[in-house]
Amino acid sequence: MRLANKVALITGAGRHKGLGEAIAQKFAAEGATVVITDIGKPSGPMLSADHIGTTDEMESVAAGVRTHAQAVGSNAKVLTFTCDVRSETDIQRVIADVVAQCGKLDIVVNNAGIGYIMKPLTEFSIEEWDLILDVNLRGPFLMTKHAAAQMLKQHQAGTSKGGRIINIASRGAKSATAHLVAYTSSKHGLVGLTRVAATELGPHGITVNAVCPNHVTTGLGAKQNAHRGKVLGTDLAGVLAFRTSRIPLGRVGLAEDTANACVFLASDEAAYITGEAMNVSGGEEMH
Ligand SMILES: NC(=O)c1ccc[n+]([C@@H]2O[C@H](COP(=O)([O-])OP(=O)(O)OC[C@H]3O[C@@H](n4cnc5c(N)ncnc54)[C@H](O)[C@@H]3O)[C@@H](O)[C@H]2O)c1
Repeated sequence: MRLANKVALITGAGRHKGLGEAIAQKFAAEGATVVITDIGKPSGPMLSADHIGTTDEMESVAAGVRTHAQAVGSNAKVLTFTCDVRSETDIQRVIADVVAQCGKLDIVVNNAGIGYIMKPLTEFSIEEWDLILDVNLRGPFLMTKHAAAQMLKQHQAGTSKGGRIINIASRGAKSATAHLVAYTSSKHGLVGLTRVAATELGPHGITVNAVCPNHVTTGLGAKQNAHRGKVLGTDLAGVLAFRTSRIPLGRVGLAEDTANACVFLASDEAAYITGEAMNVSGGEEMH
């Protein structure tokens, strides 16, 4: 098991079919104690129950992760906490609780994100821009700041060899897509955050990398498909055919593809890799 004795926290992992659920499942199967976090309840009209993982759904995701882990011979612990990544207080509380219950924190995956608000940039409101930047960029900054402080403490105390921070960016961190001005900007920014953090934390054995998936039909991905369908004047099959036509490996991404990349980056095998923004896109993105 590649992540035995590791404690891994994943944000925004409380939604079925999401990348966070797949990452939690693979991490637990590899023996890590997995801390699933999510916002837990709606917060205003733009983060309604339609767009987020509720506490009930998060518990259901956690139960599925436990069952899967046992089925593959792992007795990984799976914990759940609510955490709104926009809140520094929430982030500090969750890290303190994880350390109190698990003794340490080795791996963080900044996965929480929103991407369903799609419209021409001239129609984007300040509120929409701020919300997307808050969740997709401020959240990973706050989590990185406090998780890194904990990892540095452990490193100095000699209780761990360093740590791993993995940021779920996007193909949108490398290339532009119409009607996604805030999302694309936030994901480009996330790669910047990744590089600065990698530079500062590398001397302390903490690696920081980004993963850049292309389309995956999660809750977020389904909403983006619906918008693309309207713009292209086609149905879901038409949207997926359009997406697939641009992918050398001939299919859209699966949540497992991203999860496999995260397992690798979290493992000892990736000890000499930091500051990267790794495409997981079937060749759709190559730089
Ligand atoms: N699905 C894709 O096509 C795709 C492609 C590239 C990157 N991504 C990225 O992958 C990540 C996961 O997205 P997904 O596709 O699994 O969608 P998803 O909607 O299933 O997951 C996003 C999660 O973020 C959570 N979230 C939203 N606001 C939050 C907040 N303020 N605090 C805490 N959690 C919050 C939601 O509750 C949800 O569980 C996102 O960062 C997304 O940008 C997705």
